[in-house]
Amino acid sequence: MKGILLAGGAGSRLYPLTLVASKQLQPVYDKPMVYYPLTTLIEGGVREICLISTPQDLPRFQQLFGDGSQWGLRFDYREQAKPEGIAQAFRIAASFIGSDPVALILGDNVFYGGDVFARAFADFRGGATIFGYHVQDPERYGVVEFDAHGRALSIEEKPKQPRSNYAVPGLYLYDNEIVAIARDLKPSARGELEITDVNVEYLRRGTLHVHRLARGFAWLDAGTSTSLHEASAYVQTIERRQGIKVGCPEEAAFRRGFIGLEAFRELVGRLPRCEYRAYLESVLDEAGRS
Ligand code: G1P
Repeated sequence: MKGILLAGGAGSRLYPLTLVASKQLQPVYDKPMVYYPLTTLIEGGVREICLISTPQDLPRFQQLFGDGSQWGLRFDYREQAKPEGIAQAFRIAASFIGSDPVALILGDNVFYGGDVFARAFADFRGGATIFGYHVQDPERYGVVEFDAHGRALSIEEKPKQPRSNYAVPGLYLYDNEIVAIARDLKPSARGELEITDVNVEYLRRGTLHVHRLARGFAWLDAGTSTSLHEASAYVQTIERRQGIKVGCPEEAAFRRGFIGLEAFRELVGRLPRCEYRAYLESVLDEAGRS
């Protein structure tokens, strides 16, 4: 499965923070926001990743990740010249996707808890897999309605009168039909190629799978200064309590076997002396002992 990491948009809700660095490069506690969704892709076993961003911001991401080989990944970079919707990513990345299935993750979605995503990646056989997450303010999101048997009945983008409290988070797994579906999509009233229209099409075809995320799973929004601060506080709380890091791509790549012990040791050795390095050294020590 290939991966698309979408990190576009103007980030106007975070102004003035986003005057000099894109939203997805802002810190969520101790690392750039984009580290979190990247880690989710790595934990799902995805190694080939197409990062899509604006022409202004793309060079910063290239600086951050390079070709990805240090983490056993392969990065491809593409520009989204105009923000014309999430589903535009599949048009931009069509040649990258080729004939493979693809996972798209939004660069501002922070997830934490359990192995439900890793299992969804492993169990993916075709069609589309998306998720439903209970929220207080569903009208801000794509909203999925279920029948009594837990099957998806409808999906609507930012409905004024939501039919449920289940929002669709920004991680989507698709088979290769996505390329044709995205190609044939028409812009919505707000002029965007909507990811919700893609999901509605899979629903119409009877190949949409919606997993409801259980209590205890965290999906954090980092789109406003308040929610960004809250996301940082959440990550800090977990990290300090458990002594583990959330959203650490180096660790995830090592645990997934994308890089071996020696490559991991070298990578850690190249980092400046800091708390992040000390953490990775502790992961290394633990691995060396076992
Ligand atoms: C987008 C999607 C929406 C989804 C949300 C998840 O909304 O259009 O369906 O629920 O991402 O973060 P946006 O962030 O563009 O408002």
